Amino acid sequence: MDIKRLTGLFGAEIFGADIRDPNQFDDIRQAFVDHSVITLRGQTITPEDHLAFARRFGAININRFFAPLNSHPEISLVVKEADQTGAVGEEWHTDHAYDTEPATGSILHAIDIPPHGGDTIFASTTAAYDALSEPFKRMLEGLHAWHSSRHVFGADVADTDSARTGRIGNAHLATQDVLHPVVIRHPLSGRKSLFVNPQFTTRIEGLSPIESRHILGAIYEHCQKPEFQARVRWQPGDVTMWDNRATWHKAINDYQGYRREMHRITVEGCALVAA
Ligand code: SIN
Repeated sequence: MDIKRLTGLFGAEIFGADIRDPNQFDDIRQAFVDHSVITLRGQTITPEDHLAFARRFGAININRFFAPLNSHPEISLVVKEADQTGAVGEEWHTDHAYDTEPATGSILHAIDIPPHGGDTIFASTTAAYDALSEPFKRMLEGLHAWHSSRHVFGADVADTDSARTGRIGNAHLATQDVLHPVVIRHPLSGRKSLFVNPQFTTRIEGLSPIESRHILGAIYEHCQKPEFQARVRWQPGDVTMWDNRATWHKAINDYQGYRREMHRITVEGCALVAA
């Protein structure tokens, strides 16, 4: 297989790989650990192949809120029909940050892609951490932050386009509130990484609301620098896996009037340890 880096800091495209081949798994897994986001171009796979590949990484976490694929409830359907306006995942986020054991990563398979747009952008929270000043790093390393599902998937969002169209549901299950370290030791790479994100993180424990808002704001502004970003432009058949403990991601909703369908499987993670 041929691995081409997407940027100088993270992300890679992989050509000539077949995710169905168990003999290629070790190399693909190593690429995932090394690059945080890997796009395996041109896969010809069924939902069963997608599931089998995900299971090699670990147990599957069935998302509580996303509509499932009818035929395969372990696969979430990430779809935007041509007449719908809102896309799922438009805000910068880390999947399942509200869980006590946040997911290892998600594996997105491109089924139907618009003629233009519909990219996914990633930000490396590892590269962003590395670039912080030493005094700021020292301050963050002692902190923990709260993450919640309530304000994103709870009753307050019942009137959004995604909820009205049934793409997001189960508002009554949005009851998670959890504390994680702000700087984690990545369970696979051993590198330090920021673990707060604009969508699910609600506040930093022990700080006043003003302090928390400004510290989180400074982290978010820093992480969103183009230097820490990589962009995946999809073709049907592509499979992208992202490291949930080393990146944020965001779906770009710039294809009004066209359909986009992706299948997503999320792999279970573990409790996060402070750096
Ligand atoms: C997601 O946030 O899981 C969806 C990303 C995408 O559709 O590009």
